[in-house]
Amino acid sequence: MQKLLKSLGPVCAVIGAQWGDEGKGKVIDLLSEHYGVIARACGGANAGHTIVVGGQKHIFHLLPSGALHPHATVVIGSGLVLHLPTLLEEIRTLQAAGIDVLPRLYISTEAHIVFEFHKQIDIALEKQRQEREGKGIGTTKRGIGPAYMDKAARSGTRMECLKGDLRPILTAHAERVQRLYDVAVDVDAELKSLSSAQQLLSGHIVDTVTLLYEHLIQKKNVLIEGAQASLLDLDHGTYPYVTSSQTTSAGALQGLGLPPRALTSCIGVAKAYCTRVGEGDFATEVRGEQGDRLRERGGEYGSTTGRPRRCGWLSIPDLKRAAMINGFTHWNITKLDVLDEEEEIPVCAGIGADGKPEWKNLPGWRTSTVGVTEFSKLPQEAQEYIRFIEKETGVPATLIGTGPGREQMTIQ
Ligand code: IMP
Repeated sequence: MQKLLKSLGPVCAVIGAQWGDEGKGKVIDLLSEHYGVIARACGGANAGHTIVVGGQKHIFHLLPSGALHPHATVVIGSGLVLHLPTLLEEIRTLQAAGIDVLPRLYISTEAHIVFEFHKQIDIALEKQRQEREGKGIGTTKRGIGPAYMDKAARSGTRMECLKGDLRPILTAHAERVQRLYDVAVDVDAELKSLSSAQQLLSGHIVDTVTLLYEHLIQKKNVLIEGAQASLLDLDHGTYPYVTSSQTTSAGALQGLGLPPRALTSCIGVAKAYCTRVGEGDFATEVRGEQGDRLRERGGEYGSTTGRPRRCGWLSIPDLKRAAMINGFTHWNITKLDVLDEEEEIPVCAGIGADGKPEWKNLPGWRTSTVGVTEFSKLPQEAQEYIRFIEKETGVPATLIGTGPGREQMTIQ
């Protein structure tokens, strides 16, 4: 662990390399006790990670998973769009389990608020796409796109406004939203849903740029918890089937106001296979019995929406591109054990002139890898599978997940 921490340096970002749900939470959990600051940089309540507190499972959408560690300062950066009742619910869930995150929580004045009407617009826009184009984006319907639309259109409401009177702001939104989207805004209900947030959070809305800068001067280290993933990035992902924020390492730095040179490492997290929720390209998708097997073995159901995830094989071109864009210094390959029963494992090694995957079949290992913590103890074929990823991408697979438990991880 000490060797790993030394190689990561003081500012590490953990970024998904596929379409999200790679299992970033586990490596974050493992690392966060060694970091003074845990920061989230983009997205909103579209993200979902399972957190076990007091033996009970909870799905969290906004608080970074590192918030569970009682020593950590938690920063929510300017790049986020926040649905405040969801954030309060998460804070209260942790409080009930004896973990008080509030005194160490800092939210950027520049983060934007997701109102209830943003969700209504999200639903209305998806319906329009369905009707006009036959299919939608398959959004999480959490109002993410519309909140970022307002931000880009310079009509958004930032967290700093929570400290003042929201009625005139919401009244102006109501007129605009009705005119543009034919969506009715219940100003009183919106105000009511925000009143506890105003009381509880106003003292925690600060200039997080200066806060992070000062932490770095004091040599506190920072763990950046990425949300969504590279292929969902608004610029570099599978547009238009993407989310509405920048989900890469550069996006994370922008979403926190950290300069590019601050980053000392970037862990790319990728499943040993691949999944996707929502619509859009997925060249290595497998349907039928094989896809079902991956879904059942991997427990592949969306944590935010409960939707069954589409499943498929690993795509080396996607991993290469994600490594290029993010500057990955380490891989965390997750859920290797899900492949334990496969006889042969197809991997997309490249894309042919016809745009179709060029498959390479790697031998399976048909032995359990569950709980293996040393690379040399993995079956030969599993070692070769990992070595293939390393060779093709030029990034070392430092962490390999071999089961859901915290300790079920190979660190090399
Ligand atoms: P939105 O972010 O709700 O607008 O959804 C846009 C696309 O991103 C949809 O395909 C969602 O399923 C996907 N998406 C958004 N957040 C996540 C996530 O945290 N994990 C996986 N997919 C996500």
